Amino acid sequence: MKILIINGVNLNMLGKRSKEYGTVTLAEIESEAKKLCGELGMVPEFFTSNFEGEIVEKVQMTDADAIIINAGAHTHYSYAIADALKDKTCFKVEVHLTNVQAREEFRARSVISPVVDGVIAGFGKESYMLAVRAAVAHTKK
Ligand code: DQA
Repeated sequence: MKILIINGVNLNMLGKRSKEYGTVTLAEIESEAKKLCGELGMVPEFFTSNFEGEIVEKVQMTDADAIIINAGAHTHYSYAIADALKDKTCFKVEVHLTNVQAREEFRARSVISPVVDGVIAGFGKESYMLAVRAAVAHTKK
């Protein structure tokens, strides 16, 4: 079973971002997610881009059994990424490092949430690990 883990705009800068995001780097998250996927019998693919259209194309083209996506700020206004995700029938999880509901008002709205199976937010890098576990539980059903 394949899991595609997508990180969008500004997530390549983790480790150097504002304090809400802590010190964890994207490389550390990917390394831990890779290890967990291996233990759970999943094959991970990681895709990171600051460009909306590249993420749309990746979502369009993937044949993964599950997509885990942190779209960064695009979460709050990218109808293009939301439309691309809506067209995919695989299991889809939206993740955030921070609790977006507890931050600025503009972060409380996600245009992606209505087109995914579930949302995990607020647990730092553990949000990704919980999403991997959710994808495994779902794909093994
Ligand atoms: C984020 C939350 C977004 O509001 C923000 O723009 C990000 C990161 C998170 O993981 O907490 O870049 O998606």
